[in-house]
Amino acid sequence: MNLHIIKHPLVAHKLTLMREADCSTGKFRTLTKELSRLMAYEATRDFETEHCDINGWCGHINGERIKGKTLTVVPILRAGLGMLDGVLDLIPTAKISVVGLQRDEETLQPVSYFEKLVDKMDERPALILDPMLATGGSMVATIDLLKAKGCRNIKALVLVAAPEGVQTVHQAHPDVPVFTAALDSHLNENGYIIPGLGDAGDKIFGTK
Ligand code: PRP
Ligand code: URA
Repeated sequence: MNLHIIKHPLVAHKLTLMREADCSTGKFRTLTKELSRLMAYEATRDFETEHCDINGWCGHINGERIKGKTLTVVPILRAGLGMLDGVLDLIPTAKISVVGLQRDEETLQPVSYFEKLVDKMDERPALILDPMLATGGSMVATIDLLKAKGCRNIKALVLVAAPEGVQTVHQAHPDVPVFTAALDSHLNENGYIIPGLGDAGDKIFGTK
């Protein structure tokens, strides 16, 4: 399974705070951002670098920089937007490609309503952002879309994953690593992750 569960005391602590039933919108939003920043650090650990010559204060020196075209981050609307600023704190030059998907409450199938990708997707690594990987339908649809645009180097960053979603993504796209803060128990009859976070989009945006 191409799954990376990020083990770090700060990650575990912050996720537990988010799971509290009385976590306010402001607190949930702040924690989403903080967790995303910590996790992006881990998810970018294997980025390739190359040597470069720079002018240092004492003359020419050899430095290192990230190789290739700038990363595109791909927040899945709405909830993925909550993770965006945390990731941009680390990678401020990242290009942003936005995908709007709404899970149908009855069928649990993702319904597409927005799509705006940056140019040269075939040359860029992509980091998909969504707090929740439940059935995996939204993630698979997003990876399908990115691959259709030629993107070949794709990673997914989620806060909480259900085993069902991890399996679905792995079956459809075994080349795409999923980074998560937690692998939870299961989905309930309504497609919610247990114990999960509840409805992450509603909590981040203050709806409901
Ligand atoms: C949630 C979540 C994911 C999706 C996960 O979004 O943010 O995008 O559901 O479920 P899946 O793995 O079963 O596809 P939702 O559709 O509730 O939209 P929102 O972000 O606008 O709240
Ligand atoms: N979307 C959410 O926001 N939470 C879940 O548990 C499942 C899908």
